[in-house]
Amino acid sequence: MKNVLITGGAGFIGANFVHYLHKVEPQTRLINLDALTYAGSTENLKSMADSSRHIFLKGDICDIKQVSQIMREYSIDTIIHFAAESHVDRSIIGPAPFIQTNVVGTFTLLEAAKQAWGQERSGKLFHHVSTDEVYGSLSPEEPAFQETTAYDPRSPYSASKASSDHLVRAYFHTYDLPVTITNCSNNYGPYQFPEKLIPLIILNALQGKPLPVYGDGKQIRDWLYVEDHCEAIHLVLHKGKLGETYNVGGGNQPYNIDLVNKICSLLDELKPATDKYSLLITHVTDRLGHDRRYAMDTKKIGTELGWQPKHDLDSGLKKTVEWYLANMDWAAKISKDRDFQAWIDKNYFKRGEN
Ligand code: NAD
Ligand code: DAU
Repeated sequence: MKNVLITGGAGFIGANFVHYLHKVEPQTRLINLDALTYAGSTENLKSMADSSRHIFLKGDICDIKQVSQIMREYSIDTIIHFAAESHVDRSIIGPAPFIQTNVVGTFTLLEAAKQAWGQERSGKLFHHVSTDEVYGSLSPEEPAFQETTAYDPRSPYSASKASSDHLVRAYFHTYDLPVTITNCSNNYGPYQFPEKLIPLIILNALQGKPLPVYGDGKQIRDWLYVEDHCEAIHLVLHKGKLGETYNVGGGNQPYNIDLVNKICSLLDELKPATDKYSLLITHVTDRLGHDRRYAMDTKKIGTELGWQPKHDLDSGLKKTVEWYLANMDWAAKISKDRDFQAWIDKNYFKRGEN
């Protein structure tokens, strides 16, 4: 039996990955370490409750004592590192936790892995989950990001993720720690915390609230359905080359405003209201330093490992809207948290004052 430590497995992508791995690897034991910050919830893991192969541990990746003890106690052979502060807007208003978790936390995990595994590296792997945002922002005519594109992070979030990527590579080159890295574009799908664009738009629309579009709405993201991301990570775990980085992206690159209109049309069809949902669209003050365009070149993972996303934007978005409609009690529980309401006030009602 393999013993996999998943960090941040109560968050959006981490929880989706826990469900995915539990299903596709019946011989694997999943040790899920998550601090349950505002972004993590055991509500995302309810279907795991009866599993003897999923062990949830509440804890902080910055705590070297706890992480080292987990490495020993559960004979961890693989680490899949999702835990992070992940919201760009929050990093602009308060960057400190991003440095702590994303930089110090990743360093702590690397140290714990190095100490636990020593010279016995066979069958061991530290997989680091990162983002396309480390590459910076593209103009309309520039080619998509490749694995060789120079790093140019522009927000405290992306700078902290870039630092963590550099640390992971440093441990590979300096200490021979067996590592792989994936840099992925914008994910969407079930269990995404409603501070992010797609769930925010769906849930605001259903409540008749304004649909906030930053600036002119002509920014571009490369959207990927979360299950396709899980498949890509799984492939890298088993077939990826040590020390290598793989870009992962969906190849769906609408303007934000077109994406928001698409969600409105889907809701018009699946949950018609008196008025068209698009009437709720409201342009608001732009994000500081807002990256204009991301696009991922996924040739490497495609040709070397045979990965391709299975969902296009239409099929992924339809599944996502349907999931939120069927899980309104989950959404109500997640968003009734007082800290979330305080965040909405800070980011939207006091926009421009922060
Ligand atoms: P998320 O914010 O939904 O979840 C993060 C999880 O990490 C939460 O469960 C939280 O409780 C946990 N966590 C935070 N600090 C911790 C700490 N100190 N110790 C232990 N656990 C802690 O994030 P997500 O969107 O699921 O992103 C997961 C990873 O994927 C992140 O590393 C992020 O940078 C990366 N990523 C995200 C996207 C995206 O579109 N969401 C795209 C590319 C890469
Ligand atoms: O590119 C990968 C990254 O995608 C991940 O590394 C991050 O963890 C993840 O949060 C995401 O970052 P973005 O900033 O791109 O995602 P977000 O959902 O916050 O915003 C998507 C786009 O929509 C972005 O251009 C900002 C815009 N936006 C966002 C919100 C929350 C709005 O116009 N209005 C909003 O209310």
